[in-house]
Amino acid sequence: MRVLAVESSCDESAVAVFDSATGLLAHELFSQVELHQGFGGVVPELASRDHVRRLLPLIKRALAESHSEPRAIDGLAYTAGPGLIGALLTGASLARSLAYAWNVPAIGVHHLEAHLLAPLLESEPPPFPHVALLVSGGHTLLVEVSAVGRYRILGASRDDAAGEAFDKSARLLGLPYPGGPQLAALATRGKAGAVAFPRPMLDRPGLEFSFSGLKTAVLLAVRGRVLTEQERADIARGVEEAIVETLTAKALRALDETGLDALVVSGGVSANQTLRARLTAVVGAHHARVYYPRIEFSTDNAAMIALAGLKRLEAGEHEGLAIAARAQWPLEALPAVGA
Ligand code: KG4
Ligand code: ZN
Repeated sequence: MRVLAVESSCDESAVAVFDSATGLLAHELFSQVELHQGFGGVVPELASRDHVRRLLPLIKRALAESHSEPRAIDGLAYTAGPGLIGALLTGASLARSLAYAWNVPAIGVHHLEAHLLAPLLESEPPPFPHVALLVSGGHTLLVEVSAVGRYRILGASRDDAAGEAFDKSARLLGLPYPGGPQLAALATRGKAGAVAFPRPMLDRPGLEFSFSGLKTAVLLAVRGRVLTEQERADIARGVEEAIVETLTAKALRALDETGLDALVVSGGVSANQTLRARLTAVVGAHHARVYYPRIEFSTDNAAMIALAGLKRLEAGEHEGLAIAARAQWPLEALPAVGA
């Protein structure tokens, strides 16, 4: 089965072609970063308008790259939520309409399920069951994944997501959007331990997170001061340390509590090299193993949407002609595949 997939939940327009026999055949992405940079964050209306402009040419390129005629496509997958509703609708209506024109099934994919399954695109995929740490711009979740579609939330953030904490701290340091990677780059020049920020909820039992206090602490550290380049780097390092240490400790706790020995880490923040290095060391010392998607599939992409869509289309799931995109969509509402 060959699937064409479209991702448009936020500020990346992406298209991929995935074949159940031969794997990933094409993936194309256009990032709207420059479009939103002057505004310090994603402007939803501009995102929707740009997806409309970019997606069809990306589809043409992905079909050519994968040497697929339209008649070789057996199904369409698109991100149906959660995300910016206008942006979601652009990809959803395009993909659903192509499926209608080509007379093949279409499936709306849960964006977070796609992030969770992204490591299955790699040559050494994680075993099931496993614990997943999903860290993106909108979500921070610890999930027990017993099979595709079987998700039990072990813990979540009570307020800001980890990516949001990176982005908001970066903004306070005067770094351009998207702040996460910029803050990480600045942190490499910072001194370890020079600035200590709180490790939210680390001293409490349980698997919940809270990151909103961190941005307040950063605000207090920068407000009314003219910082040297070294001081900015030290603050960036302190922010990264606080987030990485909190995520690492809670992920270990989740492995302990479930008795599982495989950890998947996915979502945009899993592109962070300090987080990867720390988790690999600490989880390894715990006689467990950690699995990541490659960096380009940690952040938003359509390859993961194609894979998640393929799993459900292969199991016979598909949708009617009414297009259903949703801004909110709880992960645990998903049915198990083949159930
Ligand atoms: O998964 P993603 O691309 O989009 C969502 O579904 O939210 O995640 C984007 C988030 C942003 O907050 C971005 O700053 C963060 O991932 N991010 C990083 C890094 N790369 C992306 N945060 C820290 N270090 C990075 N290297
Ligand atoms: Zn995402």
